[in-house]
Amino acid sequence: MAVCKGPDCTLNGSDAVFEKARQLAPRNCEVYRGGCYGLCHLGPNVVLREDRGQKRDPFSREDFQLMNTPGETYYWHMSPEKIVRVLERHVGSDQKQTDLVGDPAREADFRNKT
Ligand code: FES
Repeated sequence: MAVCKGPDCTLNGSDAVFEKARQLAPRNCEVYRGGCYGLCHLGPNVVLREDRGQKRDPFSREDFQLMNTPGETYYWHMSPEKIVRVLERHVGSDQKQTDLVGDPAREADFRNKT
């Protein structure tokens, strides 16, 4: 699980999201800082990827862009409360929280709901 550490996500609360994730993540879920994903106005952004059994490359593009690979989920507008739900239900029970999944093409829809 990567929590963006870019300046806009940080201004919008990604440090609190990261700390909550670190406190509550199960042992099989590595939590680290990623970013910036170029989706700065949609953050705090969190990218969750299934473990593929490979050692994480600290220079991978995965820490800076969505790869749209199977097992990747992009969560936008995250908060400490929302990351608790993602950890409990998505990480803990494999239930993707579709209402929290980000889609830059749907940004206008999101803004109209909030
Ligand atoms: S600051 Fe988080 S995506 Fe750019």
